Amino acid sequence: MRADTEQDILKTELWWTALVTAIITAIMLAIIYAGLIHHINPPSNIETIDPKTLHLTGEFTEGNLGTRVEPGDQVTSRIVATQFAFQPQCIVVPANRTVTLRFATPDVIHGILVTGTNVNTMIIPGYVSQVHTVFTRTGDLLMPCHEFCGLGHSQMWATVRVVPEDEFKPGPDGRATCDAR
Ligand code: CUA
Repeated sequence: MRADTEQDILKTELWWTALVTAIITAIMLAIIYAGLIHHINPPSNIETIDPKTLHLTGEFTEGNLGTRVEPGDQVTSRIVATQFAFQPQCIVVPANRTVTLRFATPDVIHGILVTGTNVNTMIIPGYVSQVHTVFTRTGDLLMPCHEFCGLGHSQMWATVRVVPEDEFKPGPDGRATCDAR
């Protein structure tokens, strides 16, 4: 068999270069498309919190959990993920309005997604996970833990109740709960 000439080798190398460039370009375009069109982005919020004291002081104490309309009409929901439950088990949010979800955990790494939406984040001890989103579909959406966190992992889930904006009626303190309806 005749040995490849330098020309043949160069041709093969250029062919592989073109193929790899095409694959990387396709992957980059898919990432940009997912980010711009479907609003699926890597988390950018870096905020630390002491997992040992988050239930004692600050925004994740029991009385602060759940949905609240804050100054500037900002709807914020705070949720603590623990082994093996979410506190609260159900949050109510208005449709077609920007909602901020804030999560923290006192124990191990959890992860959540809200079915049928772009909400998907890890919840890591020591950090506050924050997601801004607009829910367009009303109804009870399932929010399961999607990171194996121990024996009760499969029982760990919560409900996101998306109600039409005119049915979203926070109390005088700005709070809205699933029980109130
Ligand atoms: Cu929490 Cu799995």
